[in-house]
Amino acid sequence: MKKNLFFASLFTLTAMTATAQVYLDPNAPIEERVKDALSRMTTHEKVQILHAQSKFTSAGVPRLGIRQLNMDDGPHGVREELEWNTWNPAQWTNDYIVAFPSLTCLASTWNTELSSAYGNAVSEEFAFRGKDIMLGPGVNIQRTPLNGRAFEYMGEDPFLAGEMVVPYIKSAQENAVACCLKHFVLNDQETDRFGINVNVSERAMNEIYLAPFRRAVEKAHVWTIMGSYNKWKGVHCCHNDELLNGILKRDWKWDGALVSDWGGAVDTYEAATGGLDIEMGTYTDGKTTESKFGYEMYHLGNPFEQLLKEGKVPMEVLDEKASRVLRTIFRTAMNPKKVIGNQCSEAHYDVCRQIGEEGIVLLKNDRNILPLNPAKYKKYSQILVVGENATRSLTKGGGSSELKTLRDISPLEELQRNYEQMIMYAQGYYSGRAMYDHVDRLDAHKQDSLKAEALEMAKGADLIIFIGGLNKNTRQDCENGDRESYDLPYGQNELISELAKIQKNIVVVTFGGNPYNMPWLKDVAGLVHCWYLGSESGKALVNVLNGTVCPSGKLPVTFAQKYEDYPYVQYGKEAYPGVDREVHYKEDIFVGYRHFSTNNVKPLFPFGYGLSYTTFAYNKPTAQKTGNNINVSVTVTNTGKVAGKETAQVYVTMPQTTTPRPVKELKAFAKTRLLEPGESETLNMTIPVDELAVYQEEERGWDIIDGTYTFNVGANVNDIKGKVEVEVK
Ligand code: BGC
Repeated sequence: MKKNLFFASLFTLTAMTATAQVYLDPNAPIEERVKDALSRMTTHEKVQILHAQSKFTSAGVPRLGIRQLNMDDGPHGVREELEWNTWNPAQWTNDYIVAFPSLTCLASTWNTELSSAYGNAVSEEFAFRGKDIMLGPGVNIQRTPLNGRAFEYMGEDPFLAGEMVVPYIKSAQENAVACCLKHFVLNDQETDRFGINVNVSERAMNEIYLAPFRRAVEKAHVWTIMGSYNKWKGVHCCHNDELLNGILKRDWKWDGALVSDWGGAVDTYEAATGGLDIEMGTYTDGKTTESKFGYEMYHLGNPFEQLLKEGKVPMEVLDEKASRVLRTIFRTAMNPKKVIGNQCSEAHYDVCRQIGEEGIVLLKNDRNILPLNPAKYKKYSQILVVGENATRSLTKGGGSSELKTLRDISPLEELQRNYEQMIMYAQGYYSGRAMYDHVDRLDAHKQDSLKAEALEMAKGADLIIFIGGLNKNTRQDCENGDRESYDLPYGQNELISELAKIQKNIVVVTFGGNPYNMPWLKDVAGLVHCWYLGSESGKALVNVLNGTVCPSGKLPVTFAQKYEDYPYVQYGKEAYPGVDREVHYKEDIFVGYRHFSTNNVKPLFPFGYGLSYTTFAYNKPTAQKTGNNINVSVTVTNTGKVAGKETAQVYVTMPQTTTPRPVKELKAFAKTRLLEPGESETLNMTIPVDELAVYQEEERGWDIIDGTYTFNVGANVNDIKGKVEVEVK
């Protein structure tokens, strides 16, 4: 007996040495772990890891101790825990988190250090909640101001979005939490998002729409990417062979896992062969209905296994997908460097507040009505705050990015803390339940009486602070539908105009992810745009209003004078929102400021615009070409009376070619540290010559045009302070 036992253990030991479990060795190179794990898995096990096993998880291999992948939305904080198989909240008491500002607000900071801090903080919250993949961030291009999800993206310029997203991803992934970059690609509208086919030139596709994704792949090595619902060249982007196998995996050499948007896979053969790696879904049967434990029915479940058995799809395709998923598991769930993380720490609230403070944009400040610093506000015996967004939680609604917050400081609360008994409040209008109530369902009588109350109270006020804008109700900034109008909803335009007639000391504060019409602009003294500010909303806003913080946010998107000025509008419905589920991007590469500056259309507020409480002088910029880089330098001096930060932007004018080019394109930017009055900082910006390449349709590739390039250095696209020319050959 003893002898048998001895031989048995000797056998086990030998067997173990012969097949050392490299995949479990945290110190082994990831590629070896992948190879080893793959060699031990059955076909069925490989298929199992390619699709959902619950709303937000995909399976591991329990027999081998390979962990499942836990995912969650994204991108502004960890979504509340939902039930395993349904969209109902799981009713946890420990899933209250920090809501970070919207990504549009982050882009507005033009501060890459803050982007890195954002990625670090938010991923720590994901890690603490046991998540391996955060569904975000998003870098779809803000092509239209009506896009219901623009607040989740980083503006209209591919360079800005790309530069801002790279540090976010890098820091998150340093914590071993994968980012899932959304929505690849052309998901630039919510109207007909599930089936719209986008027609776009190769040039616009490469220079504008793919560009931020490519930067995230090449510079941040993002680990997962989410396919979009819409189609390109008639094929859904979640399993679009040319897009995923061709561009993303072959051309860009991307080694990560492509995750479908929820329910975005619609065809088994395409899902099998079109580059999709993990199929996630909205319904449990992967298609259209709820059925308990039906995840096997997903396209990348039993139907895929059947195709493999029948030899209709080669086994290498399965191995390729499974390798990508295993790689993701070893990078995250089974990465020994994965942090424990934390939730709702003061450090996270600090990051949240700082991003808010630097993302808020001061758009108008007549008679220096702002800041409302103590010396000045004492003048006002009564400050009337009007508007629903003064008290409404803007972390609610919007769709999948909705958050359950522990702290949610409202502007009114913080104004009351600062200005005490001077504050009066009138709601002025109402909007109904977050996400669900459409403007048509609202009670007109109630709306009128709220307005009447505000106008009456305005008569006794010395200063009015109107706090409104968009919110995250349906057909505002909300998933699955675009805005129906460029105007502010709920009668706000009329209300602001009438308030301004009663009191000329009026400051308008707006929230929202999009530009909007402001017919009352000339009648108000101050205007501040906040995007969405998350948990510390009130604090960040009031710190700017009272001058604790000098505003330094700059617009990542052009505000047009009127809706018709947006570049696609002249081309009619075919260009937006599409006809018969076909949309044509007829403005081509002339998106946002590329159109306004090239075609001399005067915007209301140009791209890159934002005021400050201080002033800055720029010296004459210099440029030097060293090797494959162009180094542009400019010295910025604070010439005003308070400390502040400034972002210098470099727009390139290319040599003339036969193909039309935008007159200016952003190629570099840099933000100063906090400069005291009189203090200067020299900003050195490096532009690799490769960044000047343009996409040539005939050659289907990138080319650098020989000639003289002008580097325009300015405070925004229309406020160029100095120019410098460089010959490029
Ligand atoms: C959205 C995604 C989101 C997913 C899961 C989809 O409808 O488009 O952005 O991550 O749902 O909630």
